[in-house]
Amino acid sequence: MNKYYVNSNVTKGHIRKELQGHFSEHLGRCIYGGLYVGEDADIPNVDGMRTDVVEALKAVRIPVLRWPGGCFADEYHWKDGIGPKQNRKKMVNTHWGGVTEDNSFGTHEFMELCRQLDCQPYVNGNVGSGTVQEMSEWVEYMTFSGISPMADLRRKNGHAEAWQVPYFGVGNENWGCGGNMTPEYYANEFRRYQTYVRNYDPDKKIYKIACGPNAADYEWTESVMRIAGNYMDGLSLHYYTVPYDWNSRGHALEFSAQDYYETIEKALLLDELITRHGAIMDRYDPDRRVGLIVDEWGTWYDVEEGTNPGFLYQQNSMRDAIVAALSLNIFNKHCSRVHMANLAQTVNVLQSLILTEGERMLLTPTYHVFAMYQHHQENELADSHLEEDIRCAGNARIPVLQESASVSPDGTVHITMVNLSLEESREIETVLTDRTIEAVKGEILTDKMDAHNTFDAPDAVKAREFSDFWRTESGLAFTIPPCSVVHLEIR
Ligand code: AHR
Repeated sequence: MNKYYVNSNVTKGHIRKELQGHFSEHLGRCIYGGLYVGEDADIPNVDGMRTDVVEALKAVRIPVLRWPGGCFADEYHWKDGIGPKQNRKKMVNTHWGGVTEDNSFGTHEFMELCRQLDCQPYVNGNVGSGTVQEMSEWVEYMTFSGISPMADLRRKNGHAEAWQVPYFGVGNENWGCGGNMTPEYYANEFRRYQTYVRNYDPDKKIYKIACGPNAADYEWTESVMRIAGNYMDGLSLHYYTVPYDWNSRGHALEFSAQDYYETIEKALLLDELITRHGAIMDRYDPDRRVGLIVDEWGTWYDVEEGTNPGFLYQQNSMRDAIVAALSLNIFNKHCSRVHMANLAQTVNVLQSLILTEGERMLLTPTYHVFAMYQHHQENELADSHLEEDIRCAGNARIPVLQESASVSPDGTVHITMVNLSLEESREIETVLTDRTIEAVKGEILTDKMDAHNTFDAPDAVKAREFSDFWRTESGLAFTIPPCSVVHLEIR
């Protein structure tokens, strides 16, 4: 039996709702066909936004959505995406499949999508191929409420009110697709560009996010923090879980137990990455003012056969659900440094919450994890400790269990625990310090490692009620089956 200690009287930081954020890029069928179908589509929509997708995302309380990229952000020129649609300039989406981008989804449409979702917009600006003036004018267009050329243009295009842009990214992956810059060069560019990301409303300050490292590139973090740390509010981190390596990522659904464990071990690396980048940030920012913004994370497999290789479409199984659950636990544990995280990418791209095919839609196992974890949003991280050991599965070394716990403002304790093993079920003795239990509710997501939903069987994998727990003298005991995610709500 594993002992698990939860002391809800000792809290260790605030779990911002933004840790459960999402990312939408002009890539494949994420925007077009996924989130947006256009006003004239037969698929039910409100001002072009798919009603089924919007409703599903609202049900998991999506807190923030990043847009327009990704690599696309650094070749996006926002003025091409405003004004009458028939006049909007077309462009080639060179990064993603070489398809024609007709710019029918632009700033106004993104803001309308966020309004319908009731989530905060996170807009990513163009440093790689854009100018300081262009970025500056975009911010003026979106957020200035007075009389000015850009605010007047916004009004002419049908939106009188200024929007709020709580989060703004100054470039994306500028070490790669965003201009192949050195960290020193980027850090100086960041200082310059961010100067002109003006706060027109002093009460609604824009949280400025600098391009951070790719995975374990600690040198990038070191240089950018040293040169530009004082000018930013957040530093991004991108980390994708790629089984084995980038040349052999494998299939999203056809994989062995060994592939599964390799994937899980890779996903758990996120903890080390946050710890080590965080330690560098601590040297320049000991008060933890600057947030680590993990604005791209998730699994990345080979694209589904028969689909455009530039569209990054992949199916989603219980393996992805386990990756999502352990990653969200890691973000919770690091909530004093991680201010936001955005799974890549919401609909039809990489580790999606939702897949669509024409008018049909399905919720992936990953979606169901977000549905369970939403109860952590805006809670305090509780002090928790699990007696656990590391196991070997082939070459992979992983713990069997992984968890996080939080306390909501009304005192309810939420525990999310993952059983990473494909073979072992575990019994857990939970010691709840200084607490009497009045009521317990549970839910579980569990299935075979490759179980998934299809358009013909969209509910094959979904969460169900969990009742395999019993009271003990010290708290609560429960059994967690292999390959599962459990959420317990304790009052
Ligand atoms: O999410 C797909 C791509 O991965 C993004 O556009 C880019 O930022 C990253 O390399």
